[in-house]
Amino acid sequence: MKEKIRAAVIGAGMIARAAHIPALLSAGESVELVAVCDRDPETAAACAKDFSVPRWYADEEALLREERPDLVCVCTPNGTHVRITRLALENGANVICEKPLALSYREGLGLYRLAEEKGLCLAACQTQRFQRGILAAQEYVSEGLLGTPYYGDIERIRRRGIPTWGNFLKRSANGGGALADIGVHAIDAILWIMGNPRVLGVTGVSSRAIIAGENQVRSSSRECGMLSGPEISVLAQTADSDVEDFATGMIRTEKAPITFRIGWAAHLPDANRLTVLGDRMGLTAPDMRVYGALGQDQCDFTPRLFPLGPWDNQPFSGHYYLIHNVADALLGRARLVIRPEETLNTLAAIDLFYMSAEAGREAKREEIEIRPGAGEHRRRGTASAGV
Ligand SMILES: NC(=O)c1ccc[n+]([C@@H]2O[C@H](COP(=O)([O-])OP(=O)(O)OC[C@H]3O[C@@H](n4cnc5c(N)ncnc54)[C@H](O)[C@@H]3O)[C@@H](O)[C@H]2O)c1
Repeated sequence: MKEKIRAAVIGAGMIARAAHIPALLSAGESVELVAVCDRDPETAAACAKDFSVPRWYADEEALLREERPDLVCVCTPNGTHVRITRLALENGANVICEKPLALSYREGLGLYRLAEEKGLCLAACQTQRFQRGILAAQEYVSEGLLGTPYYGDIERIRRRGIPTWGNFLKRSANGGGALADIGVHAIDAILWIMGNPRVLGVTGVSSRAIIAGENQVRSSSRECGMLSGPEISVLAQTADSDVEDFATGMIRTEKAPITFRIGWAAHLPDANRLTVLGDRMGLTAPDMRVYGALGQDQCDFTPRLFPLGPWDNQPFSGHYYLIHNVADALLGRARLVIRPEETLNTLAAIDLFYMSAEAGREAKREEIEIRPGAGEHRRRGTASAGV
């Protein structure tokens, strides 16, 4: 077994610079960052210089061929994840891929099958899992403290947080809007908290009321999900966008329904709250308020949570924990936290949401599962799964 992992980053934009590269560098005892790649040579060169990375590339195939990395972080736009992840796996690299791993369930399934065939690890960046309050909620539910969970809810609202950079506003590049971008974290987290119950169907409705309107309201880069940048900027140029700014509906799982409201922009305060109701207690996370009873009295409490580790104060702390977890797993010291079956369940929910919103009816799991001889469902703007 190796003592040190040779890592590379493909895509040197916002999330690579703000999260992946600092997190890889923080794991210096087990990870050596050997190269970065961006299709824009100036971006790649500047990134290598800023972080003292030995080599840079403008072509991911050349990087994979020449560097033979053990681990690749895929930090490119959503629509390129499947192609680049596949390429990395085919070249023998383990992969951490930004979320969402794929634009459809079937594409994700194809990637996990390839990873399994090659004996490689593939982990999606579902980094919200590593928030202290989310971990605590997962522990409470898995230990049975809430009793039997019978309902979940997601409220993830940015008042004005439409991304102003990259190409998040095109369905062909991003796979969707607010739900594919920020909803994926919340859906992954609540499914994980609730024990990953199989998603059976989704009824979804989407809206473009703000993005398609004249609402040029000022907001900050931070509100849009960026670590740095102008504190005050105008709303993203949305003229040629074709994605939703708001998504609502219900995920029907084998155990309990999960309702959701997810918005990049809404006339509401910012909100980031998951709710789980059990027959003994209920909770909200990540604030981790627990609602129950003590004797005959209604009793609410907030458990005292201790820091998870040294990176809790980093703006993208989840990436640090994820990257350390994957590195430790590759070195035989840990079990992967983010499991394939969990990411696939989340991808199923997202895929079914867009199917449902388009069709105006519940979309059912069997419509996206691969059955021998069955016709293929493929979402608009997605590439072939190749499975
Ligand atoms: N986990 C999180 O919390 C989080 C937060 C923000 C973004 N993201 C995800 O990270 C990904 C990137 O987002 P971003 O905000 O960094 O976008 P970005 O536009 O800032 O950066 C993407 C970079 O990829 C480069 N690129 C595009 N195609 C490429 C290719 N084929 N080969 C090499 N480089 C290529 C672009 O030139 C750009 O520099 C997206 O999938 C996004 O959803 C995740």
